[in-house]
Amino acid sequence: MPITTCVFDAYGTLFDVAAAARQCASEPGREAFAAKWQTVATDWRLKQLQYTWLRALADAHTDFWTVTQNGLDYALEASALDHDAELRERLLALYWQLQAYPEVPAMLEALKTRGFNTAILSNGSPEMLDGAVKSAGIAAMLDEVISVEDVHVFKPHKSVYDMVTARFNCVPSEVLFVSSNCWDACCAAGNGFFTTWVNRGHEPMDRLPWQPQKTLQDLTLIPDIASAN
Ligand code: LAC
Repeated sequence: MPITTCVFDAYGTLFDVAAAARQCASEPGREAFAAKWQTVATDWRLKQLQYTWLRALADAHTDFWTVTQNGLDYALEASALDHDAELRERLLALYWQLQAYPEVPAMLEALKTRGFNTAILSNGSPEMLDGAVKSAGIAAMLDEVISVEDVHVFKPHKSVYDMVTARFNCVPSEVLFVSSNCWDACCAAGNGFFTTWVNRGHEPMDRLPWQPQKTLQDLTLIPDIASAN
């Protein structure tokens, strides 16, 4: 079946998750944070994701905003910055308005012009996704913003990917799924989607039973991949 529907992971794929820490580090009076911001950003993301997997396995779901705060608290303590409550609040505020990667608006517009359905499928809570989509100015180019809150379990649980085919009344092979998280792209491939991994950081492929069909360095070529498959 040809691709009819293009579905994107949100955090790290459309939205730059390091942008909150990067911007905060550039603000006046943040010298202590500026010296460690990359470590904090990496630990924050790693712990945020670990907590989603652990909560899914333990059948102890909570919303993504809670694990985002838990991950940040771990990361700040690991870098001995946990005494700075104002820094914590600033980083969390910036996370609500993450920047989209520069190629995102034109890429989504090209997909809509070519007649594809477009959607986000994300761990993010509906409120977080609403904030990010609005601040990036991409709401009009998305047909659906699908949150795991509808099934109360995080990726890569199968019930998350199944929401796409239910929402668009299509079969998995009609879906191009795009993620910068290799594990997400692999698991979506395991669910029958045609998947593309956006590997901006030149990371090695995850060792999982499934692999994405394509690997790109950014999102520019997504409309061409959708049209060609
Ligand atoms: C998401 C995370 C995995 O948006 O980046 O679902």
